[in-house]
Order: sequence, then structure tokens, then C-alpha cells
Amino acid sequence: MYGLVNKAVRDLVCATQGEDVWEEIVELAGIDEDTFISMRPYPDELTYKLVAAASERLQLPAAAILTLFGEHWTKFTAREGYGDLIRGSGDSVEEFLGNLDAMHARVAMSFPELRPPSFRVERGDEGLLLHYMSEREGLAPMVVGLLTGLGAHFKEEVEVTQVKSRAEHGHDVFLVRTRAASTT
Ligand code: HEM
Repeated sequence: MYGLVNKAVRDLVCATQGEDVWEEIVELAGIDEDTFISMRPYPDELTYKLVAAASERLQLPAAAILTLFGEHWTKFTAREGYGDLIRGSGDSVEEFLGNLDAMHARVAMSFPELRPPSFRVERGDEGLLLHYMSEREGLAPMVVGLLTGLGAHFKEEVEVTQVKSRAEHGHDVFLVRTRAASTT
């Protein structure tokens, strides 16, 4: 994945645990670099190794690391110069989700080797059904965090339940319920 993703992992760890812990994680992961170039593609393997090492060092399941990472992503990209792109992609979680593929297509104009996921939104009886299709395995917990992070961005409370998994259904499906965050 592009260095922007690895940079976001670094940013999250440094902000919450400090630089020393980040250095330990890089060492545990057995990778040579501890900083990344946003616009350069890196092997997916490197990102997965960072997540596994963070999981070991912080004594948290890898899924929890991915969820925290997903939550951090909207804040991080807004800060890294993608604020206009986010603003232009919707005024609510629901609207934004409907525009995600178009948004990643815009991202691909500056990241030509992007291999983005694809999302489809469907209205179910109990809320939105979000279908998540990816060539990569194991990132469903990141999507859960992404949705909570989007909720924080749009000041909405977001409840996410995974209702189908890639293993049984070919792709992951999430039930997403949103409502305006209470101001009290
Ligand atoms: C401005 C905001 C965003 C930018 C700039 C962005 C950009 C990217 C980039 C660079 C990657 C790495 C893919 C690659 O290198 O091949 C990626 C992956 C991904 N993005 Fe986005 N993204 C944004 C917002 C979102 C949001 C809001 C969601 C979901 C709610 C999302 C879902 C994902 C997922 C799940 C992946 C992991 C790759 C996979 O599933 O195969 N992104 N995105």
C-alpha cells in the first residue's frame, strides 16, 4: 500500500505511545525504514508486519490495532492535505459512503498504482448495509474503525455490526446505523 498508510500507522503510534515505542515496533517488525514516503507504493507485507508487531508490543489483538488505525485515518488524511476531498465527498456518513468509490477514484489520479477497495451501500430494514469488497484479506476491523472515525468527523453516532464475512459470503457486509450525536 502507499506510504501514506504506513505514515498514518507511525503517526498513530507516535501520538499515543511515543517515538521510542514506534522504534521498538519497527525493530520487532524487522523492517529497515522507520519513515515512509506518502506517494511511494510499498509491499502490503510491510503494513501487515507493522500491524503484527504493534499487536505484539502493545499486547492488543491485531484486529484492535486495525480498528484504532481506521478511526485515526479520517483525522490523519484531513491533516495531510485531503480535507477538500473529504469535504467534497459528502455532508453525512451515509452520503460519504455512497461516494467512497468515486472518492478513491479521485485519489487514484495522484496515486496511479492505487488498488482501492470497493463499497456498495444498500438500504436495509434496520439501517444501511455496507458491502466491502477488497483484494486484501483481514481488513474488516479497519472498516469498523473507519466508520466510527467518519462518525466523529460528521458528528454522528455510528453503530456498526458485521453481518456477513468474506469467508462465508465472499465479501464483508456491515450493518451501519447512524444518528446525530447528542450535544449534551
Ligand atoms: C480522503 C480520505 C481518504 C484517502 C486519501 C484514502 C486513500 C487510500 C489509500 C492511499 C489507500 C491504500 C491503497 C493502496 O495503496 O493500494 C486506501 C485504502 C483503503 N481505504 Fe481509503 N482513503 C480515504 C478514505 C477512506 C474512507 C473514509 C474509507 C472507508 C470508510 C476508506 C477505506 C479504505 C480501505 C478499507 C482501504 C484498505 C485497502 C483494502 O481494503 O484493500 N478510505 N485508501
